[in-house]
Amino acid sequence: MDYKNKKIKGVLKQDYQFFSHGLEGVAAFETSISYIDGKDGILIYRGIPIGELAERSTYEETAYFLIYGSLPTKAELKKFSNDLENHISLDTEDIKWLKDFPVAAHPMDVLNTCVSLMSLSEGGDYEIGRESDLKAGIQIMGKMPSIIAAFDRIRKGKEPIPPDNKLSYAANFLWMLNGEKPKEKEARILDLCLILHAEHGVCASTFATLVTSSTMADVYSSIVSGIGTLKGYLHGGANEQVIRMLERIGAPENVEKYLNEATKKKEKIMGFGHRVYKALDPRARILKNYARDLTGKRDEVLFKTALKIEKFMEKKFGPKGIYPNVDFYSGFVYKALGIPTDMFTSIFAIARSAGWIAHILEYRESSRIFRPRGIYSGPVNVKYIPIKAR
Ligand code: CMC
Repeated sequence: MDYKNKKIKGVLKQDYQFFSHGLEGVAAFETSISYIDGKDGILIYRGIPIGELAERSTYEETAYFLIYGSLPTKAELKKFSNDLENHISLDTEDIKWLKDFPVAAHPMDVLNTCVSLMSLSEGGDYEIGRESDLKAGIQIMGKMPSIIAAFDRIRKGKEPIPPDNKLSYAANFLWMLNGEKPKEKEARILDLCLILHAEHGVCASTFATLVTSSTMADVYSSIVSGIGTLKGYLHGGANEQVIRMLERIGAPENVEKYLNEATKKKEKIMGFGHRVYKALDPRARILKNYARDLTGKRDEVLFKTALKIEKFMEKKFGPKGIYPNVDFYSGFVYKALGIPTDMFTSIFAIARSAGWIAHILEYRESSRIFRPRGIYSGPVNVKYIPIKAR
């Protein structure tokens, strides 16, 4: 475009059909994977309310449902679980990589790097299409829990534990992490957390995955984009930051002072607010009950601090539609299961891999590259000054 002799403001805006900061309120494609009613706090996966799936399904079944579009038969579920199991083991090369990583590395960076490493085995032969995408997606889903569990053991000076293929996906993770067979209740609770985190519409990480896959990049690259995007503390990284914030506050009696100061400075309170929900996130309601049940003596003060924060926030921000989101209470559940705080966001990523894969496959069917505009507000007609003259 020739900008010469044109007034920039007003003229350039004609180039754009629509402007929405942060794409708020914009729909860019159709999906039948999930729906959020933000006004009434409702979330459905392919038509089924999240509470019902959390109560009655398993993570493997929910993942199948999201990815393939219908609830599996017994045989389909068995095959899908076997496919995941076939990829769960780490080979000696994977373990060698993990042993070479710095022990101080963040688990999300380990996960991201390992998914990227997995793509190397394709040797540049990846053919974009449902078959390759599914194969890669299932491989990633199968390996993610093993990577995180093995990395945690290695950084603690322990040897990784091979998976036990008699265990469920969630139970296997706890076994590989802790080296003890989890109690049925513990495995079931992690399973439930994975179901609650498996899918959430066009959140930032799913959008990032789709932006990448819309260029006809492979599933590995797309999921690497998703993991990187989930890491930020405005998205999945908030679950880790909630616990860090609670530890900084220290006790219920410090809540008011902390929050008054933080909100005066316009700081965001971790675990509150959502772009879509203007009511209580239904996942937060479920997780709060489990957090209450599971939190023992050791974290009682932290839990009471959280309850006080919720009360304060409800009074001050409830009228603005700011309520606890999925990340506010999930950390208590993970803590009770013996999962280290810096691994919380990785659990979110492991669970969300199902939603990412489902969206990649769905979007491929009517794919169009994502390519929005930025409204140019810079100068025009600037003269180039040679370096010697600057
Ligand atoms: N604490 C205090 N004020 C808040 C918060 C919060 N957590 N969230 C939103 N607000 C206020 C914000 O200051 C703004 O006020 P004003 O209109 O006076 O300027 C108003 O509410 C709208 O906020 P926004 O930042 O424009 O909202 P957004 O839709 O761009 O951001 C969000 C959504 C989730 C990034 C934001 O609520 C936030 O930063 N929350 C804290 C981080 C967090 O818990 N993230 C996890 C999100 S849920 C799980 C996930 O998807 O990963």
